[in-house]
Amino acid sequence: MGIIAPSILSADFTKLRDELNNIEQAGADWIHIDVMDGQFVPNITYGPIIVDACKRASNLVLDVHLMIETPDALIPEFAKAGADYISVHQEACPHLHRSLQLIKSLGVKAGVALNPATPLSTIEYVIDQLDFVLLMSVNPGFGGQKFIPSCIEKIKALSALLAKHHSDAIIQVDGGVNMDTIKIVSNAGATSFVAGSAIFNTEDYKQTILALRQNM
Ligand code: DX5
Ligand code: ZN
Repeated sequence: MGIIAPSILSADFTKLRDELNNIEQAGADWIHIDVMDGQFVPNITYGPIIVDACKRASNLVLDVHLMIETPDALIPEFAKAGADYISVHQEACPHLHRSLQLIKSLGVKAGVALNPATPLSTIEYVIDQLDFVLLMSVNPGFGGQKFIPSCIEKIKALSALLAKHHSDAIIQVDGGVNMDTIKIVSNAGATSFVAGSAIFNTEDYKQTILALRQNM
């Protein structure tokens, strides 16, 4: 069964606790927390304080996506705040092997995120360290963007690469995942689906998540 991970970037922050309760009641599996520093991406969001708030307000798994320039410095803070999964961008990690070692040393599941243009070859020598791979299907920085179709071939290629290495790492797809794209993304090999606007911009989260699952 696929993992549905609503991105709170599209949530109503004036009532975050309610939004978290609603997506939990609606059958979400993870909470996707998009951390942006205004440097790695042209937007600024939130830091460990929101991870801590989500930890205290929800029982869901916390999936923290670090779109920041120097993740190594802040990984311990996000782990302490309660992250269960942390993904770092390959493009922001000159010492990716060490960054992943750091995440795992803190008892947190380790993932690497790749922007649409970044080749899979950049993670070939760290596959044995990975609990998950996050493939961006939009250019990072904002919710509500259009899915980039060339990512489908990349998902298929990642699935083959992981199989070649006998890796059971989760393939997570992030950006523009909705009722129109989730089937092709799932058929290509993804098993974790980040959906921000596709969920939070609807009236009935339970109905939306059910429909997404039925379309996987
Ligand atoms: C973009 C973020 C995504 C985004 C997804 O930089 O990493 O998680 O919030 O939003 P939607 O699902 O609306 O494309
Ligand atoms: Zn994300």
